[in-house]
Amino acid sequence: MRNILLIGFMGVGKGTLARAFAAKKESFAVDTDDLIESLTNMKIKKIFKKRGEKYFRELEQKTADWLAKSVKDTIISTGGGFYKVNNIKEIGTVVYLKADFDWIFERITKSKNAKKKIAKRPLFKSYKDAKKLYDQRAKEYERVADIVVEVEGKELEDIIEEISQKVRI
Ligand code: S3P
Repeated sequence: MRNILLIGFMGVGKGTLARAFAAKKESFAVDTDDLIESLTNMKIKKIFKKRGEKYFRELEQKTADWLAKSVKDTIISTGGGFYKVNNIKEIGTVVYLKADFDWIFERITKSKNAKKKIAKRPLFKSYKDAKKLYDQRAKEYERVADIVVEVEGKELEDIIEEISQKVRI
């Protein structure tokens, strides 16, 4: 199996899906934000605060280089801006998890740990700011993706099935 990379906006459910997908396929899931936190021994929020977004994007590129070189047969969830790395297609099949902004916003703000989930995401400051970023990126995600999967209102099982069929694994 080639790696599968899940891209899409903050809070769409990339990490949750990656873990469910991996368990189903008896493979491993990794998350690019977790890799960056291990690489720096810092939380994402702290990296943004101390070193700024530009440095964080460099770490994403470094992570992409490592993934392309060293990781196989893995489901990879990514940070919402990871799609900008210059070698994404070398890492694996790129799957865009697509949903309307308002659905994503509700998913985050109505979740059990809403406060924590928002606090740890420096770019999810307000409805307005996040929506603006979403609007800037929506087309980009589609452009980069090999496969687009609508996730709104669907069960995890069904999304996994749909991706499996589309990438034929
Ligand atoms: C970001 C998304 C975050 C994290 C960082 C920047 C973005 O990941 O990588 O805060 O630029 O959209 P999630 O998509 O997991 O929230």
